[in-house]
Amino acid sequence: MTARKHLIAGNWKMNETYSEGVTLAQELANCLKSGTVEADVVVCPPFVDLKGVSGVIEFDSAPFELGAQNVYWEPSGAYTGEISCDMLKSVGATYCIIGHSERRDYFHETDEDINKKAQALLSAHIIPILCCGEDEHVREAGNHVAHVTAQIKAALQNISISDPCALVIAYEPIWAIGTGKTATPEDAEEVCAAIRETLATCLGEEIAQGIRILYGGSAKPGNIEGFLEKDNVDGALVGGASLVASDFAQMVDRA
Ligand code: 13P
Repeated sequence: MTARKHLIAGNWKMNETYSEGVTLAQELANCLKSGTVEADVVVCPPFVDLKGVSGVIEFDSAPFELGAQNVYWEPSGAYTGEISCDMLKSVGATYCIIGHSERRDYFHETDEDINKKAQALLSAHIIPILCCGEDEHVREAGNHVAHVTAQIKAALQNISISDPCALVIAYEPIWAIGTGKTATPEDAEEVCAAIRETLATCLGEEIAQGIRILYGGSAKPGNIEGFLEKDNVDGALVGGASLVASDFAQMVDRA
């Protein structure tokens, strides 16, 4: 099997003011620098914190990269409140989360929107962290695999990539986000294996084998190892636990 380097990404969501964000990034840099970091690490702060966190990465030689939580697909113009790929690049972002369930639910983002965002990011050489996941009704009805694979197919319509590192997938069952209810490692593996098969159909077998698929949903230091032992789980997208530098650093350590 292709060796895939683990990736641990922190999604700060709508938390941390500018100065709090800088402090958290500095704390994380200190925690990580006291050990050896074998995984790739990304932090995704709110837009207004990006520049401050990129300063910490540059001046403190912090061993992590910068990601955004959203983007708009148009390059510039009259789109009040939106942020373009070039703007993200100008502050040093190399990753960007798209299709998070909170954006799909609260901001009515569609598969078509997410596909446009993926295309724009790939053209700009920013790595999309493409999220997918089912709610509890879909899971109870036993339709979770079909639901998630349909989300992936729709998001990747008309997309081809030549480097598997250009794209990351995050499987986040909605019923496990911020609830303290985690999926079992077996639940995650079932869906992540199906995602990889879908990636093979969309992008080719060789590329699919190299793409990293993360698990997200109440991931924390105490449960991350069980997920990482699974064949098709290559890391985690962490919400709440990424806001506590020592917890997030422990998760990186375990990866
Ligand atoms: P929690 O880790 O807080 O459950 O959040 C997961 C998530 O939504 C990450 O994007």
